Amino acid sequence: MTPTRPSSSQQVWSAADLAGDPHKAADKDQRIRRMFGAIAHRYDLNNRLHSFGRDQAWRRRAVRLCRVQPTDRVLDAACGTGDLAEAFAAAGAQEVCGVDFTAEMLEIARCKAARRWTRADQRPRYELADVLALPFEDATFDIVSIGFGLRNVTDPRQALREFRRVLRPGGRVVILEFSDPANPVLRVLNRLYCEHIMPITATLLAADRSGAYRYLPRSVSTFADRNALAAMMEEAGFRSIRRSPMTFGVCVAYLGSVPGGLSAGRVR
Ligand SMILES: C[S@@+](CC[C@H](N)C(=O)[O-])C[C@H]1O[C@@H](n2cnc3c(N)ncnc32)[C@H](O)[C@@H]1O
Repeated sequence: MTPTRPSSSQQVWSAADLAGDPHKAADKDQRIRRMFGAIAHRYDLNNRLHSFGRDQAWRRRAVRLCRVQPTDRVLDAACGTGDLAEAFAAAGAQEVCGVDFTAEMLEIARCKAARRWTRADQRPRYELADVLALPFEDATFDIVSIGFGLRNVTDPRQALREFRRVLRPGGRVVILEFSDPANPVLRVLNRLYCEHIMPITATLLAADRSGAYRYLPRSVSTFADRNALAAMMEEAGFRSIRRSPMTFGVCVAYLGSVPGGLSAGRVR
């Protein structure tokens, strides 16, 4: 099974769209789906190259922070091509489910899982779904994760409320997002790279016309900063919120838990 490569992509984000706040676009969800559909075939390669090989380490760190137990049921929201879901499966979670609303990203996730795990019961399962209306009962999961996805949803607060709803008491949420390094020199260098170099090289590599890699830095600079994101988690009902900056703070893992129950793992 080989994922299909889009023959061409069309512009999703114009320079005028990105001069303003892309999160305020009325049709943001449709644009996001078209954009990820256009770049799916080069998404993993661009991640590895443009994070200088760090992106998988960031995902593994997020998984370690959750202290996965062999009885844990994990939901990876906005799973894309499945790298974070795979990291949870490799850490020994009992069950991992990835959901995303872009079919092209899920197709790649399914192909990767089938190649990596011969036994179907060991690999993550993937479902086409909107994280703003998760198709799961209350208190279904022990862990909910979202890697570089919260910034892309139209209503991050609603997504967090959904995560809270599908988590059991004592369950954990982990969020990975880009951030600005605290050191001013590194902050300038990181902005130079993200805003002026990466958009050119990543666009070329993906032969992209959607504007995905110009949207990326703009969507980061116009999204909630570390304090605002932690406040959103609190507002959604998460407690014991911790932030773990990685690689000079260009990426931050946010961990929170649902009050009640046991803090890690579930005794059955
Ligand atoms: C930057 S990718 C992240 C993929 C993956 N989590 C990772 O670690 O690489 C963001 C993903 O969010 C998905 N997404 C955005 N809004 C969504 C929504 N409302 N419901 C489901 N998926 C959504 C996109 O389709 C895309 O695959």
